Formats: sequence, C-alpha cells, structure tokens
Amino acid sequence: MEPIRSTFGLRPGQMEGLNFLNEATYRYPGAVSFVAGRPADRLVSVRACYSWLSELSKYWRTKNKIENGAFWHELGQYSATAGIICEILAKHLECDEGFRVSADSIVVTNGCQEAMFLTLLALFDRDRDVLLVQDPAYVGITGSAAIAGVSIWPIPEDEEVSAFLDFAVDQAAKRNRRIRAIYLVPDHSNPTGSSLSESQRSALLERAYRHHVYVIEDNPYRSICFSTERIPTLKLLDQAVGGNRVIYLGSFSKCLMPGLRIGYVVADLLRHQATGKAELLANELGRIKSFVSLTTSPVLQAMVGGLLVKAGFSLSTSNEKRSAFYRERRDTMLEALEKAFRREAREGAISWSRPEGGFFRPNARSSEFPYERRAGMRQPFSCHCVPDGPFLVVGISPKRNSALIQQYRTC
Ligand SMILES: Cc1ncc(COP(=O)(O)O)c(C=O)c1O
Repeated sequence: MEPIRSTFGLRPGQMEGLNFLNEATYRYPGAVSFVAGRPADRLVSVRACYSWLSELSKYWRTKNKIENGAFWHELGQYSATAGIICEILAKHLECDEGFRVSADSIVVTNGCQEAMFLTLLALFDRDRDVLLVQDPAYVGITGSAAIAGVSIWPIPEDEEVSAFLDFAVDQAAKRNRRIRAIYLVPDHSNPTGSSLSESQRSALLERAYRHHVYVIEDNPYRSICFSTERIPTLKLLDQAVGGNRVIYLGSFSKCLMPGLRIGYVVADLLRHQATGKAELLANELGRIKSFVSLTTSPVLQAMVGGLLVKAGFSLSTSNEKRSAFYRERRDTMLEALEKAFRREAREGAISWSRPEGGFFRPNARSSEFPYERRAGMRQPFSCHCVPDGPFLVVGISPKRNSALIQQYRTC
C-alpha cells in the first residue's frame, strides 16, 4: 500500500483539462480527434428529438388528462427543480437495470457532471470528509471536488479497491478524518476503459457497509457494452441485499447525445436532519440545485422522456445496435495498432488494452518508446490524443510513465 497522498485543489494546468477535452474538436477542426468522450456524429440525430416531444405530449395528455396547449406551456416555463421526467426515468431504470426506485428519489441534472457536483456539495463536511477516487480519475470529479472544497485521496492504479478502502479508513481515523465516499466508474471507465468484476463489486460493497462509506457510481458508458455478459450495477447489488449505500449517476450523453445535457442522480438514501427527521438525499440535492441551475431544461427533458416512452422505457435494443457500431471501431483500432506497432509491442515498448465497452483505450508506453515514430504517425493524419496528465490525481510518478490515452471512436 502506498502512503496516502491527499490532494486538495488542482495541479497547474489541470483546470484547463476538462475544457480542453470538451472543446478540442472545435479548436482543431481539421484533425482526427481521439480526445473527448464524444459519440460518433453519425449516431447523433437532433431532428429525431422533435418526434420524441410529440410522443411525450401524447403520453402525458392521456395520462394526466391535460390539454395539448397546457403541455407545451409547461415545457416553456420554470419547472420542478428535481425534473419533470423522474417517473419515466424510474421505469426506465427498472426495465434496463433491474433496480426499483421511487420517482422522488431522482433528480434530473444538466448532464451527470452537475449530478456529481451536487452530490459532493450535499454529502461532504469539508473540514473532515475525504473522497476516494481511483488514480487516474475522470477529470470531471477531481475538478468538481476542488471547486466544492472536498479533499480527495487517490487509490493507486494497481491497488484492489476494496482492500484499499480498509487501509484508507484506518489512515483517516489516525488523522481525525473520515472517508465519506468512494467515486467509481465501474463500467468501461474514463480514462482506463476498465470495469470491475462482480466479485470486486460485491467485495467493495461489503467494505462500504462495514465502514459506513457511500459509493458514488458514475455510469455513463454502461450502455456501450461489447460483451454479452452484463455485470449488475453496484446499485442493483446494493439493493439486492437491502444496503442503500450507492448513489447512482446516469447520463444520456453517450447513448443519445451530449447536446441534450440530460443526466440524473438516484439518491434514495435517507439522511437524518438536525430535527431528527429522516429525508431522502434527493431532497437536499434538489435544494442545492435550485441555487446552482434552478432546473434542467424541461424542453430537453421532454425529448428524452418522449424517446423513453416511445421505446417502452427500455433502450436496450438501441444500445445493442450502438454497441455493435463501436465494437467494430474498437476492432479496427486494435488491428491498426497491431499493424503499426507489432515490433514495439513484442519488445515491450508499448502495450494497449482491449476494452469490453465504452469509448476509451489507453496505450501504455515505456521510456524507450520511439517518439519520432509517434510524431510521424500524427503528422500525415493530423490526429490528436490525450496525454494522461489531466487525469492523474497525484501527478506523474517515476513508476508510471505518462500514458497516451486514445479512443477508438474516430478511426
Ligand atoms: C466518467 C464520466 N462521467 C461523467 C461525464 C459527463 O457526462 P455528462 O455529459 O452527462 O455531463 C463524462 C463525460 O465524458 C465521463 O466520462
């Protein structure tokens, strides 16, 4: 186990990290970009959204017995802070993920980026609490933690998460701190592309119960899965044993389109207030959200809601088609790497993984990796990739050479 290295605030240049990932495609329009977690353009159809709106209008008019005009007016107004499609989302989660939650435990957010920020603000006592994140971590969580004033402790790359939790809890107690939560992307993580096995998930939950630690499960890539085996979400495993320790963050950015900016948080755990009364964490998230963004665009929520109604609340069939498309791209990228770097791979100068879903596939390179060859590869195609710097929580260590993280998305 490595000694704990606490981080608070961002390293120089890290603040620019998410902005760069978000805007790289616009900043370098001529380049083939392997940078951001953007879905392929050909899978994005804004035009389809109009028909989804009509679908929701029909559904609600029948269900709520309202006039057509009232439906459209409602969409143009300020609306419920927690969102207008929570009931539809609850049905969708039951259909596709098998867990049952009430509509009032869901808060619809401006992407799951907002969901993670609200969760940190609601859950953490900044003077005492610590968030554990895997290192490297999605830059959106480390940046949010820095802005929210939450200390993070990194889980070293090769460490088993559940065992590290025991160690971190012990270290925290010695320093008068408390491990409040662990943040994970258990399926096809950004940036490593890796997933937790079912036994790793169960072991983690068992430790979380023992130490009274919450698990923040961020799962935007779950719907892009290349294998037939689907591992249950942490949330489902938690619910199966009556645990209620998992806060689930979802997003429609990867399986529909990021331009909709629709994400959500399932926060069905109960918290005791000073008055002794228990209430859903979702209520607290809603109160905070009202000061952060008031609400999530009802028009955009209605588009997603309409699609879900049209699909019978399940996106599993369309996700299968989408996954087949990305699986083909992964295979193309792996073949290209094999062709271009067979010798270097044999000599151990470069290696890459074979992800079973999501958008990311890191390349690890040793210090002997031929830079000029890499530069040469980039030149004729004007292609850019992401160095792992912004994702590293404690920075580049001598043990770990900076890896080159690429996506296969844009081959
Ligand atoms: C792990 C992870 N979480 C959250 C997000 C943000 O998702 P959204 O577009 O729903 O805000 C991303 C985007 O790349 C991501 O990779």
